[in-house]
Amino acid sequence: MPGFRAYRIHDQQGTARLETLQLEDLSGGEVVIRALYSSINYKDALAATGKGKILRRFPLVGGIDVAGVVELSGDARFDSGDEVIVTGCGLGESHDGGFSEVVRVPADWVVPLPAGLTLRDAMVLGTAGFTAALALDRMEQNGQTPMQGPVLVSGASGGVGSVAVDLLSGRGYEVIALSRKPDTDGYLAALGASRVLDANTVVSGTAPLESAQWGGAVDNVGGHTLAWLTRTVRPWGSIASIGLAGGAQLDTTVMPFILRGVSLLGITSVNCPMERRRTVWQRLVTDLRPRHLDRILAGVVGLDELPDALDRVLSGNHRGRFLVSIINH
Ligand SMILES: NC(=O)c1ccc[n+]([C@@H]2O[C@H](COP(=O)([O-])OP(=O)(O)OC[C@H]3O[C@@H](n4cnc5c(N)ncnc54)[C@H](OP(=O)(O)O)[C@@H]3O)[C@@H](O)[C@H]2O)c1
Repeated sequence: MPGFRAYRIHDQQGTARLETLQLEDLSGGEVVIRALYSSINYKDALAATGKGKILRRFPLVGGIDVAGVVELSGDARFDSGDEVIVTGCGLGESHDGGFSEVVRVPADWVVPLPAGLTLRDAMVLGTAGFTAALALDRMEQNGQTPMQGPVLVSGASGGVGSVAVDLLSGRGYEVIALSRKPDTDGYLAALGASRVLDANTVVSGTAPLESAQWGGAVDNVGGHTLAWLTRTVRPWGSIASIGLAGGAQLDTTVMPFILRGVSLLGITSVNCPMERRRTVWQRLVTDLRPRHLDRILAGVVGLDELPDALDRVLSGNHRGRFLVSIINH
């Protein structure tokens, strides 16, 4: 196989560049994928800029997502020509990742592209979209229904938030979007939010319990926002804890849990078991099919445009998701 381009990160300070690699330079695995698309997640931005301690070895090709076509397979489950997705599992964290024309991974990480989904849309969704769907899947398994009242989505204009608003509204939930950005009302309403709240003013209070307003919540922010959600979710509601864009600390009391029966559900996409992973991807082409991926797509970038796009995602000023088009861009 001839040399190929990959965006490789060299140290914790975020020294990274586009390089020509050979297959033997990549982490091991039974399946070699000709990558067509990847995407930019918050974690990619932390890893590639050195702002977060994400990478567990150097140098490492970045990118926690990839979608492409199997080129070589040493595992009977996959043949050359199969269209596949890999998200999380250590890709772009401890194993060379998806910002590369060629990706090599263990067969156990590979998800066949579900019928009815394109490789491109799979990466407009990427880890962010998969995680939003996993959160809803888990909340519903825990008994969440639209009858319990509106579901609040925090960090709503980001990648996970945007897809969560879209999926929840498509599923019949009233969605309240919480955003720090003053100019996202139209965008979030178009995705299905019935109201957009200003995170700069509504996240307040310190009482162990406050007026119970939300039937449930999808939280991408953590910190004060998650603590406030525990105090304001209605009895028996579920809160899916996904992210830490606003902080990793959680300062709350047990009162919401023991007096209101509120559930705090941990969501982790990275090591989601394969059976659940396939189920969630399947739901993304059936009952959880997003309706507004075209609006959620913030832009399409090539491998050589990654540094600027990664900085934009880290700044938090973007909305939606950046698709990485690996070839022909
Ligand atoms: N658990 C998992 O498996 C998993 C999977 C994917 C992502 N995540 C995490 O989920 C979070 C969202 O990921 P993403 O890819 O959607 O990121 P993203 O596109 O950057 O969105 C994050 C959003 O959070 C809000 N935000 C950013 N900085 C903030 C701050 N300092 N204080 C309060 N709000 C802030 C912003 O929304 P507004 O301006 O609209 O408020 C921003 O758009 C990240 O923490 C990420 O690491 C976890």
